[in-house]
Amino acid sequence: MSEPVKVAILGCGMRGQFMYAPFSKLRPDLMKLVAVAEPDQAKREEIAQEYDLPSDKCFFSAEDFLAQPKMADVVFLCTQDRQHVSQAVAALDKGYHLMLEKPAATTVEDCETILAAANRNNSKVAVCHVLRYTMFYQLIKFYIQSGRIGDVMSVNQLEQVGWWHMAHSFVRGNWRNSDESCPMILAKSCHDMDIIRWLVGKPCKRVSSFGSLGHFNAEHAPYGAAERCLDGCKAKDGCPYDAEKIYIFERYGSVESHYSRSGALTEDRSLEGVYKALRTGPYGRCVYHCDNNVVDHQVVNLEFEDNITAAFTMCAFTGEFSRKTEIYGTRGSIRGDMAENKLYLTTFGQPTEVIDVAEYTTDFSGHGGGDNKMMTEFLEYVRGDRPMSNTLTTLETSIESHKMALLAEESRVHGGQPVDIH
Ligand SMILES: NC(=O)c1ccc[n+]([C@@H]2O[C@H](COP(=O)([O-])OP(=O)(O)OC[C@H]3O[C@@H](n4cnc5c(N)ncnc54)[C@H](O)[C@@H]3O)[C@@H](O)[C@H]2O)c1
Repeated sequence: MSEPVKVAILGCGMRGQFMYAPFSKLRPDLMKLVAVAEPDQAKREEIAQEYDLPSDKCFFSAEDFLAQPKMADVVFLCTQDRQHVSQAVAALDKGYHLMLEKPAATTVEDCETILAAANRNNSKVAVCHVLRYTMFYQLIKFYIQSGRIGDVMSVNQLEQVGWWHMAHSFVRGNWRNSDESCPMILAKSCHDMDIIRWLVGKPCKRVSSFGSLGHFNAEHAPYGAAERCLDGCKAKDGCPYDAEKIYIFERYGSVESHYSRSGALTEDRSLEGVYKALRTGPYGRCVYHCDNNVVDHQVVNLEFEDNITAAFTMCAFTGEFSRKTEIYGTRGSIRGDMAENKLYLTTFGQPTEVIDVAEYTTDFSGHGGGDNKMMTEFLEYVRGDRPMSNTLTTLETSIESHKMALLAEESRVHGGQPVDIH
């Protein structure tokens, strides 16, 4: 039997520690975690203990790890967006294959720098556009390719960011300010740009976009709102974004409390630890008094080759945390809601067929099962068990979706002027 692929995880935060590392336990035949790099001592020690890693395989930083002789087959690069380019190039030049978290980089030039490094080293690289690997989108792609709806003419895609997720990641958290990370349309919606491009199957030629930070700013702070939720805020009771409700009271079910438990706020996950983080850290700030600048709603129009059009909406103000997709073809249509996990396939003149995605898979973990499927396919490809699948997001294809997102942003900041994609 083939040996498992040796993996090093650089950046052991939410993705590295909680999404990728556990795969080595789920599929020990396919992945062996051999090294990690993480500056946060508590996280580093926790992962070392959990995965039985010797101290000489636990590094303070990606840079320290990459200064060592090669010790794994693949690097999973899970640091923050702006760190990717230098670390990815160094990993590729060291001879590692690379699983690169999205966004690959925050500019097209930096994406191309990584591509050049991959090409000169003949490396295998996947960018983590997880939606392609979900059964939900695999089935949509299958029905498009079957010809059941004729030729695709138009796509409608809705990304429901979810009110609490917006507050956590894009108002208080890591992706709140494009000067530190990147524009929302790249950080959050490069997945949507990628999935639309993949479903359409043709290159995008032109984009235009509108959107703004319409709500999460001082102008919309309710009367009596304090700078921090725990500092005697008078608007607390009526505010759904109150940090204490979101992170402590678990009033909205398990999803929000997941953050306090999983270490996004603090490694000290005791009640006192989470309260301390809310009193002093970024996640206790009033959502109307943060240093955020990324949009909370945005629309993008896209024109593809052969006159195919797509409309995309990203919206923070949604109760659900999901995506809806509609594909309109010359002989029929497909619509689906990821939250419901059902597809409605209409061939014109025939009754609508309901396809239950759950009949095709039982894995709806991480991104609708996309995370595990992506790792399986990539690691099998690295090990030589399979050729590159048409699902795999290579750097070349990922650069297309990054261009779509970045040029949509250019259009948005220029009042919606259409921008050609070359
Ligand atoms: N594919 C997806 O659907 C998806 C979802 C969420 C996030 N992401 C992307 O994944 C990446 C990581 O996101 P996250 O949510 O895990 O963020 P995170 O902040 O939780 O994790 C990043 C980790 O990198 C560590 N780090 C910082 N500098 C480092 C260095 N020099 N060397 C090694 N580690 C270093 C940090 O301490 C932190 O633990 C980002 O690029 C993000 O945009 C992708």
